[in-house]
Amino acid sequence: MTLTLSSDATTTESEAVRRRLSGFKPTGRLHLGNYLGAIQPMLDAVASAADAESVIMVADLHALTIEHDPQRLRSLTAEMLATLLACGFDEESIYVQSDVPEHAELHYLLECATGYGEAARMIQFKQKAAQAERVRLSLLTYPVLMAADILLHDATEVPVGEDQAQHVELARDVANRFNTRYGHTFTVPRVVYPPTGARVMDLADPTGKMGKSSLSDSGRIYLLDKPELVRRKVARAVTDGHGEVVYDRDRRPAISNLIEILAACERDDPTVTAARFSSYVQLKEALAEAIVDTLTPIQRRYSEFINDRGYLDAVRRRGAERVRDRASRTVARAKHAIGLH
Ligand code: TRP
Repeated sequence: MTLTLSSDATTTESEAVRRRLSGFKPTGRLHLGNYLGAIQPMLDAVASAADAESVIMVADLHALTIEHDPQRLRSLTAEMLATLLACGFDEESIYVQSDVPEHAELHYLLECATGYGEAARMIQFKQKAAQAERVRLSLLTYPVLMAADILLHDATEVPVGEDQAQHVELARDVANRFNTRYGHTFTVPRVVYPPTGARVMDLADPTGKMGKSSLSDSGRIYLLDKPELVRRKVARAVTDGHGEVVYDRDRRPAISNLIEILAACERDDPTVTAARFSSYVQLKEALAEAIVDTLTPIQRRYSEFINDRGYLDAVRRRGAERVRDRASRTVARAKHAIGLH
């Protein structure tokens, strides 16, 4: 293919602006691992990078790619929105994906610039397809929808965990291909690895990440778990049976996990935290209280928001209005470039 530089006057609008997009799929409840590992560092990054604009999206269209229950999706979407607001994301930065129809519109245009083989070799697709009884076509095209999410906003940075990095790479490939073939249309985004927060493992099985383990809920603390339940789960957390409180992820994975969670809640260094305790019981008591202290204000705000449907609806409406302007300009550019008008 020859690379032709576009002489087209349509250019992306915001290449000088740093804009960061994060998406949260409402397929389940957020847990402490999500909060300490991803949300808290993301909030820190927002606070410390005043020059970068942040867009936070509840990715409800992505929740349709696997077997789902409509009523449950509706409530999980409201819950996700209220939880993100309760965690401290600015209501001026949040919106819900399906409130902005341009996502679906751009998704189709990008499908026309993506190879079947490109989508089929995505690792996450292969893993999920192997588990599902019936594979929805949208599971295959999911990364293309994700590319549409990103390109719609002229996002320059996409902070993701490793499991999503391949999808952002795909978005880059598709954007570059589209720009080369049809003229400069999209800002090419960059993957950024967010400053890593705590690596929170399952309390009942410290070899697996919290939320990923297939064991019961007992090893997982949800952001909305009440204090009594938090205390019970912490009390039952497995330990290494050596009796010493030392931070050593390789040799003492269970106790190190508890130390790391406590350190993250208190925003301290795990080695320093470990030195304060001489018994597992002491550590567990301090940990339970630190988690309760972290979650209580979030839960208070959450119950305020979730019980105020008028407020949540208004956040959604304002979010969609804010986003649609930019989204419709991106789609207009893409439609023109590809030959639709
Ligand atoms: N696919 C992401 C996940 O499963 C969620 C997501 C959807 C996303 N669209 C996005 C993340 C755009 C970043 C940018 O976690």
